[in-house]
Amino acid sequence: MSEIKKIAVLKGDYIGPEIMDAGLSVLAAVTQNTDFNYELIDLPFGGDGIDRCNDPLPRSTVEKAKESDAILLSAIGGPKWDNAAKRPEQGLLEIRSELNLFANVRPTKVSQIQLERSPLKADIIDHTDFVIVRELTSGAYFGKPRALTTTNAIDTMYYSVEEIERIMHVGFKMAARRKKHVTIVDKSNVLATSKLWRQVGQSIAKRYPDVTVDYYYVDAMSMAIIREPNSFDVVITPNLFGDILSDEAAQIAGSIGQIPSMSIGSEGPNLYEPIHGSAPDIAGKGIANPISMINTVAMMLAESFNEQEMAQEIRKAVAHVMTKRISTPDMGGKDTTKTVTDNIVSYINEHTLQKVTMK
Ligand code: NAD
Ligand code: IPM
Ligand code: MN
Repeated sequence: MSEIKKIAVLKGDYIGPEIMDAGLSVLAAVTQNTDFNYELIDLPFGGDGIDRCNDPLPRSTVEKAKESDAILLSAIGGPKWDNAAKRPEQGLLEIRSELNLFANVRPTKVSQIQLERSPLKADIIDHTDFVIVRELTSGAYFGKPRALTTTNAIDTMYYSVEEIERIMHVGFKMAARRKKHVTIVDKSNVLATSKLWRQVGQSIAKRYPDVTVDYYYVDAMSMAIIREPNSFDVVITPNLFGDILSDEAAQIAGSIGQIPSMSIGSEGPNLYEPIHGSAPDIAGKGIANPISMINTVAMMLAESFNEQEMAQEIRKAVAHVMTKRISTPDMGGKDTTKTVTDNIVSYINEHTLQKVTMK
């Protein structure tokens, strides 16, 4: 029997558990009758961590997550904990930092069927396929000092050369395997950290002569990804700009409720999570789009376990429900989380059955 893979499961808050269930049922379907054996390790985290352990990131969660082969997270936060001493979001920042997950990869790919779901015109978004490589453990999110009083507040945007170099290498290596085009985003006409970002980017670029590089200020970039989204390949951004641009990019493909992400460090397990939040406005209604979590499971299978066929099977099943126009309201449909998930699972089951019969 093959070694049992340990998958840490951080089921999250509001729609978090709803879409996590969907993702795990797809994982179960695609791995049935294979020698991919796994154990799910349920860990308290976020609001759920506060409720169960009085801490959004209990120590034991960090330790068990570090020992796992991959971490699956849905989404955390929400009004229930907005006034907590330590908010769920703080736990999210800390787990990224504790596990040194400095590079966050957020794809935007528009398939044929998504052309009609986007608020943008089909001819503008056709062939869009780019990834945002977002720096995740530094910048404005982590710089010190940070303070809030009744009369003033301070945040600090900080970057070291090493932090910029390592994220640039991740982005350039990725581009070398894709369309060989990097776009470096910053605000170097104003910010010191961005001046360094661009300088380091320019010097790292020399080591990748096959990769074409261009540079955008973040304000102009927010316009360009709407005007010509299909002209990009790998977009490397500081932490805060990547957060904002990736939600904007998600809308190009029709809804944020489809987009997965992967966070990687120099060692240890990767963390996989949809890019969206816990969507308190639709929680409990059974209408959250599960595709973000299902795509997240596919990304984990492909990237952490090199199970390309299984990942492809999931992507085919997702494309199938989209083609059949089975979709939740965020994608213009009237279907529920359960209907979308059940159809994806059935498609996988039918195809698995066919494969078994053909053998
Ligand atoms: P959000 O991403 O939760 O929601 C924004 C909009 O997108 C809402 O209208 C929501 O209904 C919709 N949406 C998001 N995911 C969807 C899905 N799968 N299916 C259908 N619709 C979906 O952002 P927000 O409302 O600004 O934040 C809510 C909470 O989530 C906050 O506490 C925030 O801090 C937290 N948050 C967490 C993460 C994370 O866990 N990684 C990311 C972003 C926000
Ligand atoms: C994301 C979220 C988080 C971020 C929040 C919840 C801390 O918006 O994962 O995109 O800003 O990184
Ligand atoms: Mn965000």
